[in-house]
Order: sequence, then C-alpha cells, then structure tokens
Amino acid sequence: MTLSRRRTLQLGLGAVAAAGCSGIERQPVRASDNPKQTFSMTGEMQLKQRAAAKGLIYGSAASYSSLKQDPQFAKLFAETCGILVPENELKWGALRPASDRYDFTQADWMADYAQQNNILFRGHNLAWKHFNPDWLEGVTSRNAEQVLTRHITTVMKRYAGRMHSWDVVNEAIAGIPSWRSDGLQTSPWLTMLDKDYIDIAFRAAAAADPKAMLVYNDTALEYEKPEDERTRSAVLALLRDLKSRKIPVHALGIQAHLDAAETRFNANKLRRFLSDVASLGLKILITEMDVKDQNLPPDRELRDRSVARTYEEYLSVVLDEPAVVAVMTWGLSDRYTWLTETNPRKDGLAIRPLPYDENLGRKPAWNAIARAFDAAPKRS
Ligand code: G3I
Repeated sequence: MTLSRRRTLQLGLGAVAAAGCSGIERQPVRASDNPKQTFSMTGEMQLKQRAAAKGLIYGSAASYSSLKQDPQFAKLFAETCGILVPENELKWGALRPASDRYDFTQADWMADYAQQNNILFRGHNLAWKHFNPDWLEGVTSRNAEQVLTRHITTVMKRYAGRMHSWDVVNEAIAGIPSWRSDGLQTSPWLTMLDKDYIDIAFRAAAAADPKAMLVYNDTALEYEKPEDERTRSAVLALLRDLKSRKIPVHALGIQAHLDAAETRFNANKLRRFLSDVASLGLKILITEMDVKDQNLPPDRELRDRSVARTYEEYLSVVLDEPAVVAVMTWGLSDRYTWLTETNPRKDGLAIRPLPYDENLGRKPAWNAIARAFDAAPKRS
C-alpha cells in the first residue's frame, strides 16, 4: 500500500523513526530547510472553497477597525473566509463599559458585515481570565452567578440564531501551572464561583441560544512539552467531567498558536488526544491558528518556508480526525496580527505568521493551508 501523500509528507518532515518502525514513539525530527520546497498546489479555488469541498469551514479572526477602515482587506477577507470571529469585540472588555451598560456598536457592525458577505459568524468569548472591565473587580461570590448569567443571556440572545458557535469558556486551564489537582487556573470567575462557573456559563449559553455550537476553547495543546502534556490531560478530564454531568458542551476549540522553531511536535500524541476528545462525542474546531517566526533566522524565504511547513505538518495531522470541522487562523494577513506586539523579532524584522503578507499577497503559508485542505478526507 503506498503511503498517502499526507503520510509521505510527514515522513518527509519527520525522521523515519517517527514512523514508529521500531514500534517506539520517537520525536519526529524537523527536517532542515529545503530551499527547493515549493508548496505547489493546483487550481484557483479560495481557501474557504477548498475547505468547503471537504465539508470543512475555513475562516479567521479580524478586528472591527481592520474591516471597517481597510476596504481592500475587508474585500479579501470576504473572498477568502467562510467564517468570521471578532478578535476582541465580543469580549467583556469591549462590550461592558459599565456594570449596567453594554456597547454592541462594533460587534453589531461585524455581525452585519458577516451577514452581508454570506460569512458565518462565531463568538469569542463569554468567560475568560483576561480583558475584563475594571468594574468586574467589584463583583463578589454573592452576585457573580447573576452577573455572569445575565451577561451571557443578554449577549447571546442579541445574536441568537445568527451564530455558528461560541467560545463559552476560554483558557480555564491553558498550560499555566495550577495549585489545583484539576489544573484550573486562577481567574476572577474561579475566585468567585470556583469551578461551578464553567457549568453556569454553559447552562446559561444553552438556554440563551439553543442553535449555537457551544465550545470550550483552550491553548497549549499542541506540543510534546510538559505544559502541553499537562494541559491535554487536564482538558480531557474537564471535558469528561462536563459530559458525564450532561453540561451542554458541544466542542473543543484548540487555539493552535504554533511556533515554526518548535521541534517537539509529536504527531502520534496529537492524534491520540484528538481521538480521545472525539470519543466523548465532541466536535473539534481549530480556533486561532497562527505560526510564530520570531525564533527563526532572518532570511525571509527560509522563514516563509518554515512557517508554511509548520501549517501543513500540523493540519495534515488534525484534518485526519473526522471530528475536526473548522479551521480558523487568528488573523489573515501579516498587516494585522497580535504577534506584532507580543512576539516581535529581536532583529526588528517584520514577523510573517499568516497566509497573506502585509501587502495582502499570498505566501507559501497560503499554499500550505490549501494543500492541507486539498489532501484532507471529505467529511461525511
Ligand atoms: O481598545 C483599546 C484601545 O482603546 C486602547 O487605546 C489600546 C491601548 O491600551 O488598547 C486597546 O485594547 C487592546 C485590544 O487588544 C484591542 O486592540 C488591549 O489593550 C489588548 O490587550 C488586546 O489584546 C488582545 C488580547 O487577546 C487580549 O484581549 C489581542 O488583540 C488578541 O489577539 C488576543 O487574542 C487572544 C484570544 O482572545 C484568546 N487566545 C489567545 C489570543 C492571543 O492572546
């Protein structure tokens, strides 16, 4: 039986030992750069069309300002993406200027942009440790359940029926060392409600919009690093517990903030994790995929090839899991990426993490994502 192209790709990228010839799981060793690697692909279909041809959804996060103030980018977004997730505009810090006030201006505009361009819309997020308004510090364990429930109900009812999915709880674990055996990390909600905040959030969400897919979203799930191993097992235990108590969680969101210089990628371990999640009856969404290049050498073509290889290697594994139904990048173009602020290169060169460059031109990363969709098994 000839190796599938995907398997061949993996062998090309990883050492033969990764094929488990000796039956022992070994680290796939990232092949050194291949200047001749072209990431060739066929046809003119957009990424959203290549995904849809396999029963998948492809899209991206974007900010209100990038879509409203940059018509060239807004046009490209609509041509390329089948789903839009507001990068910050549906978070507490954006929606809640005061405890008795909501400001939906930017989120409403983005919902309308999606509808007018026939793009699905997804919400992010309804409970998180970060980006909360200062007044939340005045909430106590006495009124926290009411504050959380009211927020989720008000926000979700406003867009009920228009949402593909919501990240209901974000990063409850997130690879951050926790003094707790369940791995939950400190957050205002954990402080006020202990782990009940997760049940409260999902129950309120299910009541507010029965049509939306309700997602638990987390990060640090990708690599064979101690924090990722810890997060995978804690997330699996959390999902098993929620499902066993019939808490209405429908999917796991895997953020997939990847690093082109990270070599501790173990395909077999990732496959097993995905399969374990799917066996709980959950769907899986890749929710925030991007590839850091700040630890790579300065050569631009080399960086672009390495970033592309990282996208293709990762997607060739996750898209083999039928429960994976959507892939979102956390940004579409290097013109707008959070990584510029948080993960700049020491040499001052512009980072290049996304499928389009700062001039909205396609990059090898675009081809790599296209190839991964083209090679993916069709969802039934
Ligand atoms: O809107 C204010 C603006 O009024 C103010 O002048 C400016 C300077 O302080 O800050 C602006 O808010 C910033 C906001 O992005 C909008 O640009 C916040 O300071 C900044 O912290 C916020 O960063 C976002 C971060 O989440 C925190 O919410 C990033 O753009 C966003 O990409 C990032 O996304 C997260 C996901 O939600 C969860 N997974 C990880 C991912 C990356 O950290």
